[in-house]
Order: sequence, then structure tokens, then C-alpha cells
Amino acid sequence: MNSDSTTPALAYQSGFGNEFCSEALPGALPVGQNSPQKAPYGLYTELFSGTAFTMARSEARRTWMYRIQPSANHPAFIKLDRQLAGGPLGEVTPNRLRWNALDIPAEPTDFIDGLVSMAANSSADKPAGISIYQYRANRSMERVFFNADGEMLLVPQQGRLRIATELGVLEVEPLEIAVLPRGLKWRIELLDPQARGYIAENHGAPLRLPDLGPIGSNGLANPRDFLTPVACYENLQQPTTLVQKFLGQLWGCELDHSPLNVVAWHGNNVPYKYDLRRFNTIGSVSFDHPDPSIFTVLTSPTSVHGLANLDFVIFPPRWMVAEKTFRPPWFHRNLMNEFMGLIQGEYDAKAEGFVPGGASLHSCMSAHGPDGETCTKAINVDLKPSKIDNTMAFMFETSQVLRPSTFALDCPQLQDNYDACWATFPATFDPTRR
Ligand SMILES: [Fe+2]
Repeated sequence: MNSDSTTPALAYQSGFGNEFCSEALPGALPVGQNSPQKAPYGLYTELFSGTAFTMARSEARRTWMYRIQPSANHPAFIKLDRQLAGGPLGEVTPNRLRWNALDIPAEPTDFIDGLVSMAANSSADKPAGISIYQYRANRSMERVFFNADGEMLLVPQQGRLRIATELGVLEVEPLEIAVLPRGLKWRIELLDPQARGYIAENHGAPLRLPDLGPIGSNGLANPRDFLTPVACYENLQQPTTLVQKFLGQLWGCELDHSPLNVVAWHGNNVPYKYDLRRFNTIGSVSFDHPDPSIFTVLTSPTSVHGLANLDFVIFPPRWMVAEKTFRPPWFHRNLMNEFMGLIQGEYDAKAEGFVPGGASLHSCMSAHGPDGETCTKAINVDLKPSKIDNTMAFMFETSQVLRPSTFALDCPQLQDNYDACWATFPATFDPTRR
């Protein structure tokens, strides 16, 4: 890094959806004007829009960047031979699916090479839907990437990541998440020998905090716990490969400079991180338990009020105190489609088979809930306050049916006996015993 690049300071600005301001050099951010004739320090001005210009102000996302070279300075992108792993989408199935944890490759694999498609419910040319990936990596990226197809929600399960973006640096570890806006350029470096995790790619409205309704003005994920980086830049005149994903295909070009060259910026179309351990979990203190929407961290709405394109939901450590209550998640059949993963520990609806790094898919109207062992135990247990601890499961919940990738349907990690966990309920019905 040249001496006039800023040291990537790990500093964050707190809040969600704010008009953040940051400058790596004093006075680099123009005052009172977005696009002056001459920007300070000879920087170029560039607008980075995440929503249509005419979106309601409350929905609009955009950031002004002041950079050493405009992003427009690039040669033609060439379609890359190596495309994302996972293959095309496979046959859609109403069956319940569950996977063991994917292996981390032995050969050198950066974050992009190790991305594998698991499922999707939209092609990237539609302004709605999601795609789901898992990532596995054992070396840092040397190239820079951006995704023209959607916003990316990263859920690390193993290994810490350093995410160098145009707007600054984020570091995340398991039990934290990161959200990278559509189109933002970034390079992911590994802070541990290996990394693995999950990704929801959101083709619809950007993720936001859910409304709280009767909960009030506090609770669930609180805005101040979301952290956005501060400006830092690379003033590097050296060959750099820039890769983009455009309608599912990877394209690349060679730059003669680092594109992470933004010296100052202001706006709300920004990357951010959040520590799931800060989630203020709310539950019943009388009987029954609320719908799992009470665990929503972030949501991407559709045009139908209350119907989510994507809900990111977690099942964190929490006390169970409800009286006279079947405490595990009830048996249910839902309109929504549920892709689940496990970051650590055990999930309270399953005695075994759902492992950290693994995943499950329960599609629209598929019947699921606790397995036989968990159910029998929950019916017969002596109810006292108890804590579900050392766990963190999550769900990408979406309103359109997810179609698994051919990789997801063919990989050896797909369990062939998942249905068996619901085949062991004892026959307890007795018409003579109320
Ligand atoms: Fe469910």
C-alpha cells in the first residue's frame, strides 16, 4: 500500500439508515454541496444509488463518493470461464430437505471461488426474490468483487472475515452478520485459516429494521447496534482484477489501480455489521409462545403489506418460562418458505441431525416442527424456568417457493432420511382419557 493510502482503521459509525458522513482526509467531504465543480484534493464525485431516484424519501438509499478515480475508468468486462459453483437450479420439490455441513475445499479457494448456490426463488433480473449461497474459503481474495444482482447478507459460521469495501473496513466473526449493498465493491480477507458461512442475496427491497407495533420504540435489534465503517482508501497504482456478478454470471476486467479508492463519502447506501448477541429477545411470560416473527432482525418487504420478500430471523439464547405450554416450536405448516442454518450449538426443535454449518429447507405448506424425541420430552418434562443457551440458529424466510440448486440436490451432504425424524411419535390418543 502506498504511503498516502490510509491505514485501514477499524472504526465504526453507529445507527441504521442514517445519513452517515466520513472522510479519511480532513476537508475531503464537500460542505453544503454534493457535486462541486472542483472537489477537494482533486477527487472525482460519484453517486452510488441503491434505489430508484424517485423512491419515497423514507425508502431511498444513495451515497455520494469522493474518489481518486471514478468507477467508470475500467475496460470492458469479459465473461469468466469459471462461474459460481452450484450449477443451475434443480427440480423443485415439496419434500423437506436437510444438509450436513459442507466441507471446506482443500485446494486454494477464495471467497468467490468458494461460493456455492443452494437455492433461489427468482432470477436476478426480477426486482424481488432471494438466492441463497454458502461460502467456504481458505485464502484471502486478491481481486475485488461487486454484485450487480442484489444486496448480500453474510452470516459467518466459522472464521473471522475482514471485508475491505469502498466505504471502509468491516470485521465480522461468527455470531455477527454483515450486509453489503448491491453494487458495492469489496474484497474479503480471512483472519483465520478457514471460513464458512451462509449468504442471502436479496433481489428485492433493501433490508431494514422491522416495525415494532405494540412492542413499542425499543426491542429486537436496536438501531444503535448497527455499525457502518469509516472512510479509508487505497491509493494503489497496480494491476487489480475487478469481478462482478451480473444476472448470475461472473465477468472480470483488469484495472491499473485499486477501486477501493474512496477518500470521503456521505449517504445511507452503506455496508453494515450487527452482533446477533445484542438482539433483545422478547417472548412470553405467561403461556404459549409468540410467532417466530418476534425474532426478526431484518426484513425486506414486498408491495403486499406484511408479506416479506426476506425475513432474517434468529433463534438466540433465551429463557423459557411459559407455564402449561408446549415449549418447542409447534408443529406447523406455513405459507412462507424457510431455509434454516445453525451457527453454533443445538436448535431446540431437533434432538440431532441439524448441525452447525448444516441447513434445512421447509417449503410452503410442508409439515414440520419438533422431531419425535424433542416432542415426547417436551410433553412430559416438568416445566420450570429454563434457559436455552449456547445456541444460534437462523432462518431466511421468504414468500416465494425456493428451488434448490442441482448442487444442493446432488451433494453427499443432503440427508436421505430426514423424514425419519418425524416417524417416531408414539400413538398417545385415547378416547377414554381426557
Ligand atoms: Fe418452520
